[in-house]
Amino acid sequence: MLYQNPRGIGCIKCHAKYGHGRLVAKYRDKNGNLVKLVAPDITKTKWETFYVRLKYSKIFKNHKLKKINYSFMPKYDYLVDEEIQAIYHYLHSKKH
Ligand code: HEC
Repeated sequence: MLYQNPRGIGCIKCHAKYGHGRLVAKYRDKNGNLVKLVAPDITKTKWETFYVRLKYSKIFKNHKLKKINYSFMPKYDYLVDEEIQAIYHYLHSKKH
């Protein structure tokens, strides 16, 4: 339920039905270059990364915590720990 409607735009809209990710949109920028907006597969994301990404909108890069300067993923820092856990378990429990 939370994955589909986390009191905001549903994760499902970008990360697809089971969290395997998808191409969300593509367009041409003003120079005519094709730009693809892709939401990654989050079914194999480690708990630590998952939690930090949702709670603090930060990511691990080269073992360091970095702020995301640009991402079209909305903020979900209002989700409580139990909710983040629930979504994580939902994505990791499905057998597909
Ligand atoms: C509007 C599209 C969009 C929505 C909605 C969205 N995401 Fe994302 N998500 C992205 C994009 C793009 C990235 C990759 C860039 C980044 O990390 O921000 C991403 C990255 C992530 C990552 C980091 C994956 C990794 O391995 O580094 C996690 C975890 C994640 N999303 C979980 C969620 C969850 C859970 C929800 C719902 C509460 C959600 N996302 C909703 C677009 C979206």
